[in-house]
Amino acid sequence: MVGKLALTIGLLLAGAQAQQATNCTYQSLKCGSVLLAPPFNYTTLQLTTAVNDTSSIPLVSTTDLSQTLFHCTDILGTITGNAYCFAGCDTKPGVRNDQCIL
Ligand SMILES: *[C@@H]1O[C@H](CO)[C@@H](O)[C@H](O)[C@H]1NC(C)=O
Ligand SMILES: *[C@@H]1O[C@H](CO)[C@@H](O)[C@H](O)[C@H]1NC(C)=O
Ligand SMILES: *[C@@H]1O[C@H](CO)[C@@H](O)[C@H](O)[C@H]1NC(C)=O
Repeated sequence: MVGKLALTIGLLLAGAQAQQATNCTYQSLKCGSVLLAPPFNYTTLQLTTAVNDTSSIPLVSTTDLSQTLFHCTDILGTITGNAYCFAGCDTKPGVRNDQCIL
């Protein structure tokens, strides 16, 4: 019973995460700060998970997520960590790719 309840809660959480307000644009590069804000409304948990899955990026704090560059890998809003921008992340308007400040 307990196991089944845990599974149900897990599925509910997965379902809640799938309800992405606005999916990021396929193949675009966006700063964490942009993805956390409307209209995307990604959660810090989503960004942290993406960073955790990327071995090339050292674990960053929640505030550092804003200046991490993410890559949108499909049309369903899936993101992967691309790079941690040490000098900050430069946001570009619209669908133009964001980039790290060099
Ligand atoms: C996104 O977040 C903003 C600010 O928290 C909120 O006003 C807006 O309704 C959210 N959008 C969606 C589609 O959930
Ligand atoms: C990310 O990795 C850290 C360290 O391994 C872990 O403490 C944290 O819970 C992970 N977060 C997510 C969202 O996977
Ligand atoms: C956004 O992604 C979700 C899955 O995360 C998918 O169900 C939905 O259809 C996508 N929305 C658009 C407009 O492509």
